[in-house]
Amino acid sequence: MKIGVCYYPEHWPKSRWPHDAQKMREIGISIVRIGEFAWQQLEPRDGELHFDWLHEAIETLHQQGLKTVLGTPTATPPKWLVDKHPDMLALDQYGRPRKFGSRRHYCFSSIAYIEECRRITELVAREFGRHPSLIAWQTDNEYGCHNTSLSYSTNAQLAFRRWCKNHYDSIDTLNQAWGNAFWSMSYQNFDEIDLPELTVTEANPSHQLAFWRFSSHQIKQFNKAQTEIIRKHSPGIPVSHNFMGNFVEFDHRLVAEDLDIATWDSYPLGFLDRDAQDAQAQQIWMRTGHPDTAAFHHDLYRGLCNGRWWVMEQQPGPVNWAPHNPSPLAGMARLWGLEAFAHGAETVSYFRWRQAPFAQEMMHTGLLLSNGDEDWAAKEVRQLHEDIQKLSAVLERDKLPEQTAGTVTAETAIVFDYSSDCAIRIQKPGGDSGLHASVGGRFDPLEWTQQAYSALRQLGLSIDIVGQDSDLSNYKLIVVACASIVTDTLASNLKRTEATVLILPRSGSRTKNGTLVDNLPPGPLGELIPLTIIRSESMPPAWQETLTTQDHAGNKLSCTSCDWREQVQTSLTPAGSFSDGWGFLYKHHKIYYLNAWLESESLLALVSSISLSAGLETVQCNAGLRLRRWKNLVFAINYGPEVVQLTELSGLPETDKKALKSDLIIGKSTLFPSDAAIWAV
Ligand code: GAL
Repeated sequence: MKIGVCYYPEHWPKSRWPHDAQKMREIGISIVRIGEFAWQQLEPRDGELHFDWLHEAIETLHQQGLKTVLGTPTATPPKWLVDKHPDMLALDQYGRPRKFGSRRHYCFSSIAYIEECRRITELVAREFGRHPSLIAWQTDNEYGCHNTSLSYSTNAQLAFRRWCKNHYDSIDTLNQAWGNAFWSMSYQNFDEIDLPELTVTEANPSHQLAFWRFSSHQIKQFNKAQTEIIRKHSPGIPVSHNFMGNFVEFDHRLVAEDLDIATWDSYPLGFLDRDAQDAQAQQIWMRTGHPDTAAFHHDLYRGLCNGRWWVMEQQPGPVNWAPHNPSPLAGMARLWGLEAFAHGAETVSYFRWRQAPFAQEMMHTGLLLSNGDEDWAAKEVRQLHEDIQKLSAVLERDKLPEQTAGTVTAETAIVFDYSSDCAIRIQKPGGDSGLHASVGGRFDPLEWTQQAYSALRQLGLSIDIVGQDSDLSNYKLIVVACASIVTDTLASNLKRTEATVLILPRSGSRTKNGTLVDNLPPGPLGELIPLTIIRSESMPPAWQETLTTQDHAGNKLSCTSCDWREQVQTSLTPAGSFSDGWGFLYKHHKIYYLNAWLESESLLALVSSISLSAGLETVQCNAGLRLRRWKNLVFAINYGPEVVQLTELSGLPETDKKALKSDLIIGKSTLFPSDAAIWAV
């Protein structure tokens, strides 16, 4: 459990660096990310290298015992480089160049740019790759940020045609797979295929899905080109990349195959203001962030690199990029850090050290004010540092090594597959669809997954978020949340499992090419539960229906359905029925199929009943309280406005109640808002 910070020595006079390094050390920071936007300073003109300043900066940090994470500077190609290769710029979906003057102005398919990236990566890796203070690498910065995953350049078009050629035996196979008989869309050869842009109405969804897959592949190759060079010149040093929150523009699992550590950038207030489409939620969680947003991503990214993950950027105070940027409640900067450790983070690194008084992010806070004095978050980092020391002492006392990789064991898994998300998002009902659709809101596959996650978390459960091909053998409950495209591995793992399985609507409904499955949904999952979906409906916001069913103990359970429902053909008896006579919720042995979406309270009630039937021990958390178990520690985190008496929580195991009295390491059993209590069991 280490604390880090993102630092830009190139923004400040050298005379300031020793003071910064000393202060970092003093407040408890031990890791510093550096260099990821500094191409211009490293190479101000083609081939003219200025590495001395970076040596000096790393050395200054090193003298204070600070370790470095070095970024490759490829997210910010300098002006001379853009002028040298004008066709390296990406084009947007309207064919307009994404010009120099900010960042990420490159196309993943530009061969000239990839070569330049190889060159600078090799130079930097040779120069710094064996420095004793180097602890990790970061490739580039936030692939896809600012809508940069997809580019409609000529380079991309040519590469897409090649990709299609490799993926489909012949043009007839492609036409068949995409259903190009529709609207006379068939091609005669691969060279006729354009990118899915500027079409009169929506482009063929299979074409869009293929382009999304291709773009994921380009990002993977771009990233891999760097990781291979780094590994050659910097043996043994792990390579990471910082992914984003609420972000599905490419297949992160694919890109992570070439990384050692998955990291992500956590901005809970920014995400809420930008993405939450529910005004009430915006109001309630304005200064804390939604209690499940950060945790969802912690669990998602923990699943990418065999359990090794960090928060590379942690929000310290107001940010600059959401529509509105309020200040977090006092205590949140520390609490978000603690929560990340509760989910197994190795490092939480705050963004940024000092607020810059210039350029795009001058309204973004840091640990220091722009004048160099400490801001609130620096004080909270000091406290987090003290917390970590206490926790480490207990882990040592109990002989549990600090190394976290792969040691978080959850009994509940949620399946989230990126291509399945894309297949549904392309034709998302409700008006905002396609490859450029925003995330969040009704009918959104990521949002549905997060709602299911939230329900499970309100039951005090620890959760793994897994992919289509993950090992499912050790779970008691598996929720198939986002798997419209079901792989053979997922189907056979689910067939073998003894866990209780909850299948959410739209699962197994699509082929790999995004078309409807031949044998009707839930396609391959029909082998688990004998039913087929013969009609599905997306419902306007005005529609809701409350149905009655029974919980696992036979008590009456009311469920309010909204947004989505499906008509099911089966010999199974439904658990309830809609007013028009169609069934609601099906069960076969330990497999449940939910054929409608539910508003959040109903989803919670249903998931609670299913969790109990799966033999899980659930705790009734209130709307803002969350529990997370990690090694022998239990973290209680209070996002809500109410004081919580932990010993009175319904369902809290006796072992926890006892430990709360005898082995409370941090906090008190009376838990105040924006505070944490941590105990050992
Ligand atoms: C991240 C990015 C950082 C900085 C930060 C501001 O998306 O990686 O470079 O821009 O946002 O919140």
